[in-house]
Amino acid sequence: MSNIAPATRKILVTSALPYANGAIHLGHLLEYVQTDIWVRFQKSRGHQCHYVCADDAHGTAIMLRAEQEGITPEALIDRVSREHQQDFARFGVAFDNYHSTHSDENRYFSELIYTRLRDRGHIATRDIEQMYDPVKGLFLADRFIKGTCPKCHTDDQYGDNCEACGATYTPAELIDPVSAISGATPEVRSSTHYFFKLPDFAEFLQSWIDDGHVQPQIRNKLMEWFESGFNEWDISRDAPYFGFEIPDAPGKYFYVWLDAPIGYLASFRNLCEREGIDFDSYWKADSDAEVYHFIGKDIVYFHALFWPAMLHGADLRTPSAVNCHGFLTVNGAKMSKSRGTFIKAATYAEHLNPEYLRYYFAAKLTSRVDDLDLNLEDFALRVNSDLVGKVVNIASRCAGFINKLADGQLSAQCSEPQLQARFIAAGEEIAEYYENREFARAMRLIMELADEANTYIADKAPWALAKQEGQQQQVIDICSLGINLFRQLMVYLAPVVPAMAEQARNFLQVDSLDWASREQWLLGHSITRFKPLMTRVETDRIDTMIEASKEDLVEEQKLKQKASGPLADDPIAEQINFDDFARVDLRIARIASAEYVEGADKLLKLQLDLGGETRQVFAGIRSAYAPEALEGKLTVMVANLAPRKMRFGVSEGMVLAAGDDNGIYLLEPHSGAQPGQRVS
Ligand code: MSP
Ligand code: ZN
Repeated sequence: MSNIAPATRKILVTSALPYANGAIHLGHLLEYVQTDIWVRFQKSRGHQCHYVCADDAHGTAIMLRAEQEGITPEALIDRVSREHQQDFARFGVAFDNYHSTHSDENRYFSELIYTRLRDRGHIATRDIEQMYDPVKGLFLADRFIKGTCPKCHTDDQYGDNCEACGATYTPAELIDPVSAISGATPEVRSSTHYFFKLPDFAEFLQSWIDDGHVQPQIRNKLMEWFESGFNEWDISRDAPYFGFEIPDAPGKYFYVWLDAPIGYLASFRNLCEREGIDFDSYWKADSDAEVYHFIGKDIVYFHALFWPAMLHGADLRTPSAVNCHGFLTVNGAKMSKSRGTFIKAATYAEHLNPEYLRYYFAAKLTSRVDDLDLNLEDFALRVNSDLVGKVVNIASRCAGFINKLADGQLSAQCSEPQLQARFIAAGEEIAEYYENREFARAMRLIMELADEANTYIADKAPWALAKQEGQQQQVIDICSLGINLFRQLMVYLAPVVPAMAEQARNFLQVDSLDWASREQWLLGHSITRFKPLMTRVETDRIDTMIEASKEDLVEEQKLKQKASGPLADDPIAEQINFDDFARVDLRIARIASAEYVEGADKLLKLQLDLGGETRQVFAGIRSAYAPEALEGKLTVMVANLAPRKMRFGVSEGMVLAAGDDNGIYLLEPHSGAQPGQRVS
């Protein structure tokens, strides 16, 4: 347990940098909300606390995504950065700076750290063999290679492990591997790679991990990794790559995970320059400032091994702690697109108040690494009973009487000094829970106080007294106390529900709800009219949100299809001119034969007669047609499509069919058309 020093602390806090190729979803938000609560708490305590983040903008996935959308990577990351910042703002995640890893500062620090490591002998180079896509002209990461599992022979498996039997292997072991990007058969090619010599830091890391910089569960995990030994870390990627070129290594780029954590420094430097903060006092090796990284459990290796080793090797300070959280599940299961539980931040915010979610997360977050379940039924119950039923209720029961009987002015003295003292003193225990990231405990304690306040009011029943002659002052005293207790609770809850707290501050007409402000009791102080600070969660809104999330999935699929070719139902298909159209050689074809393809559950192999010439075409129509039903039929084919080598043979064209989730329908000309005739 850490004690909170009374002196002002200098604290730098980060959340992991989200990838710049996808939307923020509720899983991400668990992390950003957790961090934001902790930061707001530190600021409320009067510490000098800076919270920085950035988009993680480099890498193959982002390069390919931009290509798919037909825009430059720079245009993509600009757009996504704006979207991300909008989402964060809606959820009250208040970064002091939001930057990008594709920035001058990040290039500077990446080069600085790399050259320091290199000059101290911690970088090695060596040739490695890798799968290469000859059509796209790039080396393929394992997840961009697919093929048949060498163990169980299930097809369409990724290059590193089989989803059917769980076997792990290298892409070279796959049977009939293909590039998931182009469909081409990959070749093995050799090239020079740069490595960070992690084993140089084994001793340093061992003691760093033992020094309490990580949670006990994480330490155990790290010890397992220690026992199996460290490898050198491959930190280079060959062109084409969207990232920073390695100094003195033309055509070689820093792997995205090298410059990503350096983005923390880059974003902070950017803030320092804007606000005149002394960067070095935070990052020099013997700094007395504190640095905390909040991350998810999937990226521990990078943050608790590579990152401290890199910093140490480059003579910079290492993090005070890496605070790791578990994964978000929804209704007890992994977020699922088809169940509508893969919920984007923007979709949630269209239907529900973001502060409900902040509170729910807080009510369940601990300092541990366990997964956290968003059970939507429990979510509604919890928010309604705690925030609305307990906290808001206190103010709404009391405000009316103060306004009616005392013209908005609270009593000049406190009628229950002991209750007052207890509420103020509880702030110390609550603060300790916040400090140690035991938010669930903090929320429980706050709600116990709320119960106490409600019990007090219910016992005194000011509404009954108000009907009696000569009891006015008593009613005012009771309700003044109620309003003051409410103010205490809002001080304690403000890090979790900042927008609600801001409304409460306005209602209470106070300058601040900072932690220290709770010491001053509001006596003879005027408040304004009460407006409901938060309404109940309506469960039908939750249902609508789930439906909307299912629709998000449909939209995404359309976008993917659009990327692979405009469709008839695509409202924004780009216009082409006649010459473009004429370049497509469409011909009438007779299906001479059709047969199943061993091992491919979607394909039929067709022999197409073009009136003299025969073409072999693999068509994804097996779900709709039995081969016998097709033989002899006429259809339309693209005759000048470049031949494509597939796992089962070469496909020499394409047949035309209509189709969506409801079925596939092969096009057929009116009778009389002849094989080989041009279609225009
Ligand atoms: N770009 C890397 C991080 C680089 S940090 C130098 C990355 N990005 S991410 O967008 O995939 O994830 C960002 C953060 O969100 C990570 O800490 C990740 O663990 C967290 N989460 C992503 N999905 C999550 C859940 N479903 N649940 C909880 N946290 C999740 O990783
Ligand atoms: Zn398998």
